[in-house]
Amino acid sequence: MGNDPGDPPLIYLNNAATTWPKPPEVLDEVARCLKSPFFEAGRSTAGSAIDYPSEAQEALARFFHAENPDHFIFTQNATDSLNLLIHGFVKSQKAPFHTITTDLEHNSVLRPLNTLAGEERLSLTTVPSDDGYVLLREVKKAVRPDTRLMVMTHGSNVLGTLQDVQAVADYCADSDIFLIIDGAQTAGQVPINLSSISGGAFVFTGHKALFGIPGIGGFYVDDPEAVVPLRQGGTGTDSRSLAQPKEMPQKFETGTHNYPGIASLLAGTRFIEREGQDRITKKGRDLATLFIREIANDPNIILYTPTPDLPVVSFNIRSLDNDEAGYILAKAYNIICRTGLHCAPLVHDRIDGGKGCIRVSFSYLNTPDECRVAGEAVREVAKGANR
Ligand SMILES: Cc1ncc(COP(=O)(O)O)c(C=O)c1O
Repeated sequence: MGNDPGDPPLIYLNNAATTWPKPPEVLDEVARCLKSPFFEAGRSTAGSAIDYPSEAQEALARFFHAENPDHFIFTQNATDSLNLLIHGFVKSQKAPFHTITTDLEHNSVLRPLNTLAGEERLSLTTVPSDDGYVLLREVKKAVRPDTRLMVMTHGSNVLGTLQDVQAVADYCADSDIFLIIDGAQTAGQVPINLSSISGGAFVFTGHKALFGIPGIGGFYVDDPEAVVPLRQGGTGTDSRSLAQPKEMPQKFETGTHNYPGIASLLAGTRFIEREGQDRITKKGRDLATLFIREIANDPNIILYTPTPDLPVVSFNIRSLDNDEAGYILAKAYNIICRTGLHCAPLVHDRIDGGKGCIRVSFSYLNTPDECRVAGEAVREVAKGANR
């Protein structure tokens, strides 16, 4: 199944991995960026060149209601941001210390933390979630006198649950714990107000709900002093000095920027602002609800996300391996979803015995009709497997 005439139309339901398609204005902005000479800060750049990094920082500050545009740092993706922040924070600490995380995390959190735990740079407590939610009570129970860091997701990429990061952030700020929030699944999907979250850092990725292209992401850090930069190199500023500049964003950004990626992020945030974040959030929930209604009463389907906050629906089909189900949906119905462990192994231990599941995820650009067609296809596959 592909794009041959006669194939059913392609239905792309793997938006929690990477959104597709991108809004036309995102593609146009990338093309525009690539067609013009790149802007170089502090140099005799062509007058017409757009300063995409600065424009995007301003746009992100407005979009996320953050105080300091300069405190937005561009990276490759959420994984890159999480590595820079986690390792950079650990480097700022003189002695090993205690860290808290949760069982909802993606491997981009779990692997850096477990690597550092293996090197005895930190000790780690993993707080169990309750029905997909991290409870402040459990976080408080895990805290020790030497707890300095907490890393948690804002939204589960398997269960679609939105976490009360405000409550955890308030508690961490009061307790002198540096909180890193993984907003990979929430940036662009739900309203985010960084002005109410003091201390710590917020991580985002460009290629998911912010509608950028792959290869761009970033983070916002409230107090840059809390994190040691892991990279050094050219910044186009203070070039006589052999030391990395201390100013933001040069403290963390070095080398040539991913200009097309930053341009896509800028255009993606403009698209969301124009359409309205609330409308996008609501449409995501409506699409997920519609799809769930299609499959919820089928006894051959095990649903793990009856009421997700994000447009993410995870399930299994009885008597059918999830990878095989994904293969059938792609080959026979031209429906693209995601199967397996979704890089969040601890969640799967809780919901599906570590076997993995089928994940369907929607973007603002999906339609109710696609939900119905996909629901019908899943029911048909489930019926075939359980005849
Ligand atoms: C919750 C969560 N964190 C981190 C990531 C990693 O994102 P990226 O691919 O942008 O590094 C993902 C991607 O699936 C995710 O869902």
